[in-house]
Amino acid sequence: MKKFIITIVCMLFCAPLLSAQTLLSPNGNLKLSFQLTEKGSPTYALTFKGKTVISESALGFVINQKEDFNSNFEITEVQFAEANTVWQPVLGENKEIRDHHKEMFIRLTQKNNGRQLYLRFRLFDDGLGFRYEFPVQDNFRHFRIQEELTTFQLSDNHKAFWIPADYDTNEFPITTSAISEIPKLIDKVREEPLAAKAPTPNVAVQTPLMLKSNDGLYINLHEAALVNYPSMMLNVNAAKNQLSAHLVPDKNGVKGYVQTGSVTPWRTIVVSDDARDILASNLILNLNEPCKITDTSWIHPTKYIGVWWEYFIGGGSTWAYSDDRDITIGVTDYTKLKPNGHHGANTEHVKKYINFAAQHGFDAVLVEGWNEGWEDNYAYDKERIYSFTKAYPDFDVQALHQYAASKGVKLIMHHETTSSVVDYECHLHEAFRFMNDNGYDAVKTGYVGPIIPRSEYHDGQWMVNHYNYVAETAAKYHIMVNSHEAVRPTGMSRTYPNWVAQESARGTEFESFNGNHPEHTTILPFTRLMGGAMDYTPGIFEGDLSQYGNNKAKLSTTLVKQLALYVTMYSPLQMAADLPENYEKHLDAFQFIKDIAADWDNTYILEAEPGDYITIARKAKGKNEWFVGAITDENAREALVNFSFLPKGKTYTATLYTDGKNADWRTNPQSYSIKTMKVTHKTKLKQRLAPSGGLAISVKSE
Ligand code: NOJ
Ligand code: CA
Repeated sequence: MKKFIITIVCMLFCAPLLSAQTLLSPNGNLKLSFQLTEKGSPTYALTFKGKTVISESALGFVINQKEDFNSNFEITEVQFAEANTVWQPVLGENKEIRDHHKEMFIRLTQKNNGRQLYLRFRLFDDGLGFRYEFPVQDNFRHFRIQEELTTFQLSDNHKAFWIPADYDTNEFPITTSAISEIPKLIDKVREEPLAAKAPTPNVAVQTPLMLKSNDGLYINLHEAALVNYPSMMLNVNAAKNQLSAHLVPDKNGVKGYVQTGSVTPWRTIVVSDDARDILASNLILNLNEPCKITDTSWIHPTKYIGVWWEYFIGGGSTWAYSDDRDITIGVTDYTKLKPNGHHGANTEHVKKYINFAAQHGFDAVLVEGWNEGWEDNYAYDKERIYSFTKAYPDFDVQALHQYAASKGVKLIMHHETTSSVVDYECHLHEAFRFMNDNGYDAVKTGYVGPIIPRSEYHDGQWMVNHYNYVAETAAKYHIMVNSHEAVRPTGMSRTYPNWVAQESARGTEFESFNGNHPEHTTILPFTRLMGGAMDYTPGIFEGDLSQYGNNKAKLSTTLVKQLALYVTMYSPLQMAADLPENYEKHLDAFQFIKDIAADWDNTYILEAEPGDYITIARKAKGKNEWFVGAITDENAREALVNFSFLPKGKTYTATLYTDGKNADWRTNPQSYSIKTMKVTHKTKLKQRLAPSGGLAISVKSE
């Protein structure tokens, strides 16, 4: 490990010289400027190869009752440093990550009252991160945030890939438009029917926000290391091409309760003139704290199937055991309820999934609807809906644990909370002990519906602390977490690598409602996945849901694109989401899902354009096996796969899964063909992808 740190300190006495400061990234392409205005307000600006990324933009806060914490400052200390280190994520897209950045630390002191505010900037070759730090000070121990004033002044009316800011959900379809169009379009987009919605009062969008400028820059705005602070959305001032921080308040309107001796999350700006660099960036992970778990041997990549999709397709299977209603946990005797006869999580049915998992080499089976309480499913006004330790009468936890263990398969626990969060926290230790006792090492948590306590939103500070608390507590029990409907990730998987994946976006389940747009998965890696892995749950082979009953939904991709998503949608937790019988009909194509790795030595972003296409190659961790996935939006295209990532001087066998000649997501989604070819590091392959189609390749040593 190479490490060097240079520190130059310029103390109080040279303060008058310090009204402006600059910092260059290690390769010199990015330049950060910091400056106090005449009123003593901090501002920053950023350029990339001389082009404006952010022009002079505000920093600071309004705190308590309109107290100014953004002007009348003087600079009382500046420090510069450089770090160049390499670290190894427990699970990841690359086995080693370089963190090379230059740092500028600025101490600001308010002239009228002596209050201090620190700013720490880290400039990498692929972008900027900066955060506020609140040192412990006499007479300044606690404050409330009324407004964070951080602004991102853009140079032009960029193209934006956005979802509306909403305190309770990230499940909107993604819209592509110029910034100036957002105010016109947003109300319509907000009409999307979702389980819990709390739109911001003004025009605002969610982060990660992806932007493309007319002068060829790709700019991504997000945050890193969201701890004890509300999530940041972005107000849109379309007339000025200006974005500004919109912290998620609680229902009293407070945007953060701060105790000094703390820091904010990093505000991140990833930038390049090549879209591939955005996907390759590790800036957000680099800004998170190192792993806090000493023994990580129990954290592992997981490929799983589940008693899950059958609940969405309209075939009759239910989470609930009974059609009786008016259930009270702890009072109702479930053995006295009348079974509805189509409860999914029954012992015999789950055994079939375990058999299928064992036969095809999957690590685990997720079972939803195993526990008491689903009769009240989505009863938003009620607390204590689910038991986290009592199974339904037809689900034999111990027998299934033994059966799964005998086949080398794990069961994945499901904790839907319907956002009755205080109740969940009260039962957390008991629930995790129950998991330990019954051989579970992974939990899928769920936060459907409005939060209880009713003063809170999904993305506010209180809930941020809850999600982090669950990940931290789970680590103590050696449990991996996959959270659904939680605040979108900010790279915390570096610190808590047992937080293996999240949903926090519009996932495959929406294919069973009103569908996802063909370009959806060409954008998600540039938006939601910038913060971390997504449990997108791909692998749907039977996309015509009218096969099962009254559901008229149709998948928005070809079958081969579903395969390619295992490469393009990074996650160390990957589901094969379709029903086993649909895989049995296409065992040759299913082989790709069986072979695919979920943890990687290296990742190579070969082609990328947000909204249009993505081609990625990855090398499996510790193996001489490579996988390539290419996807396109509604337009057919020719993907170019340059195999130069392969080691020189050897010939490998590639198995190609391609869209059939007449494949088309609307008319002929299941048409595919499979062939093998020899490849070397010199091979350059051109391959046509159908409309909303894909290409999946596995490469092995001969
Ligand atoms: C929403 C989750 O995203 C989905 O995966 C789950 O099946 C349901 N909630 C029920 O918990
Ligand atoms: Ca497009």
